[in-house]
Amino acid sequence: MPDSEFIAPHTKILNILDKLDSQSESERSGKVKISHDDSMLAITNDTGKFLNILLSAINCNRVLEIGTSVGYSTLWIALTLIQNQESLINLKRSILTIENSPSKIKRARKNFEDAGVTDMVEIVEGNAFEILAELPEKIKNDSIWGNKLFDFVFIDADKENLVRYFDLVIPLVRKGGLIVTDNILLPEDYRSSMIEYVNHVRKKKNIQSVTVPIGYGEEVSLKLN
Ligand SMILES: C[S@@+](CC[C@H](N)C(=O)[O-])C[C@H]1O[C@@H](n2cnc3c(N)ncnc32)[C@H](O)[C@@H]1O
Repeated sequence: MPDSEFIAPHTKILNILDKLDSQSESERSGKVKISHDDSMLAITNDTGKFLNILLSAINCNRVLEIGTSVGYSTLWIALTLIQNQESLINLKRSILTIENSPSKIKRARKNFEDAGVTDMVEIVEGNAFEILAELPEKIKNDSIWGNKLFDFVFIDADKENLVRYFDLVIPLVRKGGLIVTDNILLPEDYRSSMIEYVNHVRKKKNIQSVTVPIGYGEEVSLKLN
């Protein structure tokens, strides 16, 4: 391939993130009418950068994401893994992400294709609670997922099931791994679910957890042992 046709993986991802940033901006402005089902409901750009720093700091290689939407947060994660690893070969199927909306999965696949990260991302389609309950059995003999725990879990799906998601994912995370949950501070409608979640997480003896007021508020929980 001539040099002029080569586009570095980082550049491709950043181009798609830019495009999605514009879509998110018009969604948040309310100027364009977008139905709830078609909304990206993505993390903010600052939150993407925050995840980028967190995941680099823990030398993250394996990620579980609950709530893909059209792939904005997934692309921030993919960007970080590429920055950390340099070689794309080691990153095959390094992000497992769960989503139940077929139309969003279609959009996410297109974004992953355009960003050049299709091989890195495994999308599991269906209800997150059912998938998480069956995940240990499903990945037990998998050549990639079966032999190691996740370094990082991002919880960003339906907000009523956070406590159940947390309890299902905690055994799948390595010591020193992180679980981050979005929307702890905003929107207000989620307040009671978020209080319940934060209280639940902070009662655990093997968890150190704090709310970081960035974007919509991120609960960052470290698994101590
Ligand atoms: C807030 S959006 C995710 C945004 C994405 N993490 C980002 O920042 O780009 C939540 C997504 O979770 C999906 N979702 C909601 N409940 C779900 C469930 N029970 N199982 C799987 N996906 C679910 C929704 O369809 C939606 O796309």
